[in-house]
Amino acid sequence: NNTFSRLYLRQNLIVLDEVSSTNDYLKELLSNIKPLAEATAIMARNQTHGRGQRGSTWLTSKDENLTFSFALYPKNFPSSKSFDLNMIVCLGIQTGLKQYGLDARIKWPNDIYINNRKICGILIENKLAGANIHTSIVGIGVNANQISFPDSIAGKTTSMRLESIAKDEIDLQNLCIALLTTILTVYETSARADGISLLRYYNNQLFRKGIVAAFLIDGIETMAEIKKVDEQGRLHVLVDNQIRTFDNKEITFII
Ligand code: BTN
Repeated sequence: NNTFSRLYLRQNLIVLDEVSSTNDYLKELLSNIKPLAEATAIMARNQTHGRGQRGSTWLTSKDENLTFSFALYPKNFPSSKSFDLNMIVCLGIQTGLKQYGLDARIKWPNDIYINNRKICGILIENKLAGANIHTSIVGIGVNANQISFPDSIAGKTTSMRLESIAKDEIDLQNLCIALLTTILTVYETSARADGISLLRYYNNQLFRKGIVAAFLIDGIETMAEIKKVDEQGRLHVLVDNQIRTFDNKEITFII
């Protein structure tokens, strides 16, 4: 039996017209109101200062894309296992997209891709208490109904509407609940299972696994093959008949 039913998630969803960033808004709420129920989500129709990974900007088109954040309070969760949260969120989103008939892959470490194009980005920000994660703020941006993109990202980005067969408009609030449901199902299941099965599941869904393709390594374009991701979240690739491991800053996909 799962704690986070659809009803629970709907009751704990706050939909706002415009915020700077749903991650920042939720952080602000958490610093003022205590306690806020776990998995309380903030969804915004528009973000004026959406944030991406590595300090980048996350641009969205008002009312066309889904932007939301929610809070988790993992129990006895050492920060050394923070990659687990990453895997949980990626796998939950991938499962959720499957319910919309979409076959997505996880681009290590935490992007969701369909047909070589990014469809979803994730920004997880953790607050620590000693060696444990006390609060995790999970922010998700999904390209849902957008059908054209600025030149700078066209060809690298896609949306649910573009990838679906029906091309129907997607209801963003329903999508938000659907993704929260699948993410929290993985979250609860993985708390009961061992870390290995989560890692195996994540590895099975990796974008470009087992394919020789171009990467940027030490600033040089290099052909390499992804072998696996380990429990610390490091990527193992085969380069020149040798296995090398990298963290997120050390290798870039050339797509
Ligand atoms: C990335 O791919 O760089 C991560 C993008 C994360 C964007 C989402 S949109 C909702 C939440 N609020 C933010 O400011 N960022 C995340």
